[in-house]
Amino acid sequence: MEVTKITIDGPAGAGKSTIAELLAEKLGFLHLDSGAVYRAIGVAAKKKGIDLDNEEAVSSFLKSLSIEIKNSGRVFVNGVDLTEEIRKPEGGILASKIARFPEVRRKVIEVLRKAAEGRQVITDGRDAGTNIFPDADVKIFLTASSEERARRRYRELKEKGYNVSFDQVLEEVKERDYQDRNRKVAPLTVPEGACIIDTTGKTIKEVVREIENLILHSR
Ligand code: CDP
Ligand code: CDP
Repeated sequence: MEVTKITIDGPAGAGKSTIAELLAEKLGFLHLDSGAVYRAIGVAAKKKGIDLDNEEAVSSFLKSLSIEIKNSGRVFVNGVDLTEEIRKPEGGILASKIARFPEVRRKVIEVLRKAAEGRQVITDGRDAGTNIFPDADVKIFLTASSEERARRRYRELKEKGYNVSFDQVLEEVKERDYQDRNRKVAPLTVPEGACIIDTTGKTIKEVVREIENLILHSR
């Protein structure tokens, strides 16, 4: 079987984007970071002063948006490159707020499917294997304990110069897990047929190798 679509889902800090990026490079696939599109919508809405708890206001704001994912993985909203801005810690919270709304989810799926047309893609997110590409050839669910995921995030934020405490980061990880697992629309779940990999105590290299083996055996 020729593998054209791979999905990686899982909670914050499981290693999805790092591993998807490395695999994409190795396999020559396009990496689609679905979280980046939610982040971009959240950040753009906040900039416009939209109340992110108001579903109607967010839905109507969506109509004015043109979202583009360039081949380099950069995300543009109405022609403005938001790639760096969406990586700030606030971007994740804004994303999980607007990700509750079905209209937003429909828009993101449309953008991602369009970007994937005629390409071999590896997509990471919360519902990549359930809703975005339910027909994916290989589905992975990455996870790790919340403490380990918070430790990874904490290290990353410190390296980038953010002044945060470990407890703050752990709290944020748990809050986002709760939001993502308990929302009514497209909650974070293990897709049917997905292979679950617990990355607690594993290096990035080990996880990449494990997935490469899975891909080889699905061929
Ligand atoms: O995309 P997601 O939120 O799932 O995680 P990520 O942004 O790819 O990874 C979060 C941090 O954990 C990054 O700094 C990775 O380098 C690190 N990481 C790790 O130390 N060990 C792993 N097995 C996976 C990720
Ligand atoms: O990197 P990290 O796992 O922290 O977050 P992300 O992948 O950039 O996603 C940010 C937020 O967008 C998540 O917490 C989810 O609320 C939402 N999201 C989603 O609902 N569905 C997806 N397929 C991807 C992200």
